[in-house]
Amino acid sequence: MKSYVFLPKYFKAELPSKFQKDDNRFPEAYVEYFLKKYTKKGDKVLDIFAGLGTTLFVAEKMGRIPFGVEIVEKRYQYIKDRLENKENIIHGDALKLLEYNIPKCDFCFGSPPFMMKDDPENPFTAYQEEGSYQQYLKDFQTIFSQLKEVMKPNSIIAVDVANLKNERGEVTTLAWDVGKSLSKVLHFLGEIIIIWDSRESKTVDGRSEPWRIEGTFGYGYDHNYCLLYQNK
Ligand SMILES: C[S@@+](CC[C@H](N)C(=O)[O-])C[C@H]1O[C@@H](n2cnc3c(N)ncnc32)[C@H](O)[C@@H]1O
Repeated sequence: MKSYVFLPKYFKAELPSKFQKDDNRFPEAYVEYFLKKYTKKGDKVLDIFAGLGTTLFVAEKMGRIPFGVEIVEKRYQYIKDRLENKENIIHGDALKLLEYNIPKCDFCFGSPPFMMKDDPENPFTAYQEEGSYQQYLKDFQTIFSQLKEVMKPNSIIAVDVANLKNERGEVTTLAWDVGKSLSKVLHFLGEIIIIWDSRESKTVDGRSEPWRIEGTFGYGYDHNYCLLYQNK
């Protein structure tokens, strides 16, 4: 498998207007690429940061069985309304993963909420409570230690992250920090760099991505990292 891939950054699914200001999805093509590589029909695919459901919808469309957890009620409800496997989306907190009756899954794919190193809010409370970057990195270990119990032995866990650059040019090395933090609880296989291909991408202007830095497709960068871990 190549250690980089070019993917178009555009969204097939239209969102209702109430979500357009808070569109934090990744493109369907990203999910399709990894589901093709790592899963087969009938596999159980889990996203513990379900967001607006991209992983679940693509998984269902590809004949996999989707499962997800989402903390924000209106996003959970949006997914539930549109998913065939309605009972498989849980309104809950990834920090309490073992409280939910999720069956053993074959593959996990998702993108956590991001945090700049000096941000005051805790992303794992949907930015509703105070937090710190150090606590955020520890919470990853709490969440993914529980995830180990939910996933089948030796299954693959893929985590989408990015380094972040703000308007002042200050960088948070989130991708590398999360990578190191998770390596303490999971076996790190390596990263795939996702290059948002401007030749094929539709402009994201007007999509209200509040974090977007002018001239880039992401958080100050044109690439993300898909960190791959194995449950062993
Ligand atoms: C980057 S978004 C994921 C977007 C998703 N990949 C998509 O394409 O729709 C991260 C999501 O994680 C959710 N989240 C944050 N903290 C959480 C927690 N403790 N448990 C479960 N979900 C959480 C956020 O509400 C947000 O919807």
